[in-house]
Amino acid sequence: KAKVAIFISGRGSNMAALLYASLLPDSTYEVCLVAANDPDAEGLTLASAEGVPTFALSHKGRTRADHDAAMEAAAKEAGAQYIVLAGYMRILSPEFVSRWQGRMLNIHPSLLPKYPGLDTHARAIEAGDSHGGVSVHLVTEELDAGEVLGSLPVAIRAGETADSLAERVRFAEHQLYPRVLSDYVSRGSDPGYLLEKVRALALSLPEAH
Ligand code: GAR
Repeated sequence: KAKVAIFISGRGSNMAALLYASLLPDSTYEVCLVAANDPDAEGLTLASAEGVPTFALSHKGRTRADHDAAMEAAAKEAGAQYIVLAGYMRILSPEFVSRWQGRMLNIHPSLLPKYPGLDTHARAIEAGDSHGGVSVHLVTEELDAGEVLGSLPVAIRAGETADSLAERVRFAEHQLYPRVLSDYVSRGSDPGYLLEKVRALALSLPEAH
């Protein structure tokens, strides 16, 4: 099974969904670490209670580069092959992102490419959209702009508030994230898929002369 480190900043309900899904017999991944940038993140106590190694280091008083390096070292030490951001509310340095390109996923509470950034639910309601939703995407340097691996729309009801929508979107998140992660990491060990990727890359390279 592929080893994944989950980065959180708070409640960690997506982390919990990912963790319990990993215990089902057909899961293609296992959680080797839960790491947080806030030592008081609620999700940490659940992870430890379930016997998952945890790491916590506050970003306060540290440079982004130093904090990222410590988080990355913890992930590597735990043997992580993938990093999964689940409500991790820190922007990662471009160097970190490029080292994990194709091996780092994020969940974002909107139907990307709509509403990258914050306050996604309020913006969807304000715009009169029929649906909000959730997307799982690869992390690239540009915020919330990497390839979307999967998404689920969630209907916006009359009188909906950002909070009520957020709560329902979370139910959808908990279904989507484990499924997309499991599919994605299993593709990583599929020779046919890898060959396809290599071919695509070769076609996109400038001609040798
Ligand atoms: C989730 O709704 C996730 O989509 C969002 O934070 C929440 C974390 O909840 N992420 C972002 O807004 C990323 N910019 P959780 O801690 O209970 O999983």
